[in-house]
Amino acid sequence: MQLLEVKELKKGFGSKAFNTRIEVLKGINLKIQRGELVALMGPSGCGKSTLLNIIGGLLPGDDGEIELEGISSDEDSKKFNYGTKAPNKVVDVRRNGVGWIFQDFHLVEHLSAVDNVAMALEISGMDQSAAETKAKSALTTVGLGDRINFGAEQLSGGQRQRVAVARAIAGSRPLLLADEPTGNLDAESGSDIMKLFKMLTKGENPISVLMVTHDPNLASQADRMLLMKDGVVAASDIKSAWGITDEEEEE
Ligand SMILES: Nc1ncnc2c1ncn2[C@@H]1O[C@H](COP(=O)(O)OP(=O)(O)OP(=O)(O)O)[C@@H](O)[C@H]1O
Ligand SMILES: [Mg+2]
Repeated sequence: MQLLEVKELKKGFGSKAFNTRIEVLKGINLKIQRGELVALMGPSGCGKSTLLNIIGGLLPGDDGEIELEGISSDEDSKKFNYGTKAPNKVVDVRRNGVGWIFQDFHLVEHLSAVDNVAMALEISGMDQSAAETKAKSALTTVGLGDRINFGAEQLSGGQRQRVAVARAIAGSRPLLLADEPTGNLDAESGSDIMKLFKMLTKGENPISVLMVTHDPNLASQADRMLLMKDGVVAASDIKSAWGITDEEEEE
């Protein structure tokens, strides 16, 4: 089942009058299915973070459409239509559509793991005890059941990122957006995060993950890789991204 569709999305920055205008996204088209783990690659500055920010409802596109299946407050499925809407018009997308993971974790240092996760749920309106129960269960899912009362500053980089994953999945949002989630991790912790993503996308209640990475090894472990180049999606599977033709594969 399709979760996300981005159609002809365009975004530029700066002003034509001052000659500072750059067109970053020039008509992005992509689809993500429920349960898919998709890696997004492309040269620095090509617009990967810009694309994630628009999908995540943090930035409006200039033109184009986005459709996302979300969860409404009564847990029914609900479709969000946006793309060029201002961030204050897509509160629902941020609350019920997407969860975020960043390169530098964005945890509150002096709070425990469980409070870091519960706080995000409380902000979205859940009462304290329900939030704590959900937070503990999300931390158990990511393998930190024995660290719930540790302060964020007492955790390793890989453990911190797992707390961030727990925070992102605790609200039951169907799409996880991860902008270079392994960029600050050593190879082993990075690969652990990748395994965790695989588990979350293949479980009983699968979520989908769109992750930006510069690491071809990690990208090759995803279900699919999208390559961005010159403002468009230049390839949407690993073979064509590496320039391998079907004939070569048959040889
Ligand atoms: N708010 C902004 N104002 C002006 N220009 C911006 C803004 N945000 C991004 N840009 C420009 O848009 C382009 C794409 O930036 P973006 O951060 O999306 O690239 P990226 O693919 O994520 O790069 P990296 O791999 O280095 O993280 C860059 O040229 C950047 O300078
Ligand atoms: Mg970026």
